[in-house]
Amino acid sequence: MFARRIAVVGTGYVGLTTGACLASLGHRVVCADVDAAKLERLSRGEVDILEPGLAELVAEGLAAGRLRFVQGATAAVSGSGDDAAEVVFLCLPTPMGVGGVADLSTVERVVDEIRHLLRPGAVIVNKSTVPVGTALRTSELLERDDVAVVSNPEFLREGSAVQDFLTPDRIVVGCDQQDAAERVAALYARLGAPTVLTDAASAELVKYAANCFLAMKLSYVNAMAELCERLGADISDVTEGMGYDRRIGQSFLQPGPGWGGSCLPKDTHAMLQVADGADFEFRLLRATIDTNTRQRQRIVDKVRLAVTGKRAGSLSRRRLGLLGLTFKAGTDDLRDSPALAVAALLRQAGAELVGYDPALHEDAASRPELAGITIVDDPYLAAKDADAVIVLTEWPEFRTLEWAKIAEAVRNPVVVDTRNLLDAEALNRAGVQWTGLGRKP
Ligand code: UGA
Repeated sequence: MFARRIAVVGTGYVGLTTGACLASLGHRVVCADVDAAKLERLSRGEVDILEPGLAELVAEGLAAGRLRFVQGATAAVSGSGDDAAEVVFLCLPTPMGVGGVADLSTVERVVDEIRHLLRPGAVIVNKSTVPVGTALRTSELLERDDVAVVSNPEFLREGSAVQDFLTPDRIVVGCDQQDAAERVAALYARLGAPTVLTDAASAELVKYAANCFLAMKLSYVNAMAELCERLGADISDVTEGMGYDRRIGQSFLQPGPGWGGSCLPKDTHAMLQVADGADFEFRLLRATIDTNTRQRQRIVDKVRLAVTGKRAGSLSRRRLGLLGLTFKAGTDDLRDSPALAVAALLRQAGAELVGYDPALHEDAASRPELAGITIVDDPYLAAKDADAVIVLTEWPEFRTLEWAKIAEAVRNPVVVDTRNLLDAEALNRAGVQWTGLGRKP
């Protein structure tokens, strides 16, 4: 395999994973960021995001001389003469901008910075999730006939990004110039994954289409869990029975407090805007988002009933112990966390909140997202004197808590398990009343 000289602009979890993994495939990779302190840490092999296997890959790449960190896109792209990057990956933030439209200003600024520095024949690869038409717009901004723009969306999940990169379900590469698409696809040849070669607009749409479909799957499951409660059925058995159908599959069928994180909420809103812009009323997607918003209120209603025994009971001054605050287990990411959305509603209802999360420590209390929640670094302290304990993130270690000890610590031995994580029978034996989603009590 021919090793390529690659620049990766942006060392967030997508950029850093991409850089470290491409280096592990034998390419020579230079990663750029604007944050000097972070680059210094990375150059010493210190990775400050919680991503299994990533620190090891960074250390290996540094030791082998295949991975370097530099400040600024210019330094990464230009190299010295022949050393200039052949392929430039843009792994930049595309946050939700005004009206849900993806904000492309960082991508545009970087393209403007590097456009005169690219060697003839270079390829720009967009890995960020961007609206359909961005590759075309990037080409227009570049004003370079000798540089191709390729869309190569990433499908990494936080918490398993390295594994997802190195054992992908598929690689998607889109470009209106076939040879450029093939050159980018060749970077991944060693992975042996099915590869979809297509035009840029289709590749850009694949990413939104996949994330919106995943969100729809979860909203469907959450709605189905509610229906199970009304019909006296059990969602775990229903999803297991559905999942054996290979067209449906067992994964991504776990009900919860609603989907969140830095991707699904942003991408579903952006897709709605894309559809609006194309004069298409995407009702299914609108219902997917509305169902998710409603799910958070539904959790609050469940807590209200569990704590007071009444649908309209008051949560005012009730003390609630929250277990899990990150948007899912295995990450320390709080962005768009459903746990925090539920917490905000509980606070509005007058409850007093004490929270524990294995990925956060007491010094996290100063983070603005956690305002109004007393953060403790012991799950038993979160439960102390609580009127209910609420499991909001599916950290496996919650399963093995000493529930008898919790039953003694709480004021009211009630657990609302929004992830159907715990062993209901074991809790009942410990004297705790367990309520899940879509499960029989
Ligand atoms: C998601 C997609 O899964 C990735 O394929 C995609 O590459 C990534 O977005 C992205 O666009 O970068 P991620 O945001 O890391 O990955 O998180 P997921 O594992 O998809 O979880 C999203 C949300 O759904 C979380 O709040 C999680 O708790 C929830 N979820 C997930 C459930 O409630 N039930 C499930 O069965 C699965």
